[in-house]
Amino acid sequence: GAEGHIEDFDFSFEGPFGTYDQNQLQRGLQVYTEVCAACHGLKFVPIRSLAEEGGPNMPEDQVRAYAENFEVFDPELDDFRPAKTSDHFPESGLENAPDLSLMAKARAGFHGPYGLGINQFFKGIGGPEYIASLLTGYTGEEKEQAGVTFYENTAFPGGWISMAPPIYGEDVEYADGHENDLHHIAEDVSAFLMWTAEPKMMARKQAGFVGVLFLTLLSVLLYLTNKRIWAPVK
Ligand code: HEM
Repeated sequence: GAEGHIEDFDFSFEGPFGTYDQNQLQRGLQVYTEVCAACHGLKFVPIRSLAEEGGPNMPEDQVRAYAENFEVFDPELDDFRPAKTSDHFPESGLENAPDLSLMAKARAGFHGPYGLGINQFFKGIGGPEYIASLLTGYTGEEKEQAGVTFYENTAFPGGWISMAPPIYGEDVEYADGHENDLHHIAEDVSAFLMWTAEPKMMARKQAGFVGVLFLTLLSVLLYLTNKRIWAPVK
């Protein structure tokens, strides 16, 4: 069909109690920085958010040093200067490479059956699964069309994408010594992009849980109150 094949990766943040894996987010940031940032941007993501608890949770001094990797244009100085933690990540450097800040929520990995969305109910929307499947979905076939090279990809709708395979495995050497085969690198950068798209996911799940707990307790109390109020009538 027109929709590609999406592999169901197991992410730590799935399910009602799932949480981001801080080490995985840091590895994903490394992949993003060393590979994806050559073409893509993250213009909606403030650099300081890398220090957030529930996110990559990096030490402040490390975040400050990281910011200095980027140059930003400062209208007050009328010149470029090294980025500060209060700046956002740069936007895409390559014109036709989309910004990746919200990509994990802009794409769906799972559909159907029959347009009912039941798969999404059980497996989630599948944004990070889509990205990981895209990165691992190249077949090696290419074709040229109107002077543009397209690469066959089993996850991309339509089957041909103009992004050359960005990772092959062993593209980065992880600081924490984690495995760096194609599958793991794809998974790590996809988890990182889920975090950029929904940095408050853990707070949202926690608030939801407290809400359900509170409403359950309220139901019990109302039930008992109701019993007592009507007791004399029975
Ligand atoms: C498109 C991810 C590296 C150039 C995309 C899309 C994603 C993505 C999710 C959107 C696909 C869609 O529309 O559904 C990544 C990741 C990278 C990476 C995670 C690093 C691991 C690169 C690099 C380049 C590049 C290094 C340039 C050499 C492009 C272009 C498109 C694109 C041109 C548009 C493709 C099209 O619509 O045909 N990328 N990318 N990407 N990327 Fe990348």
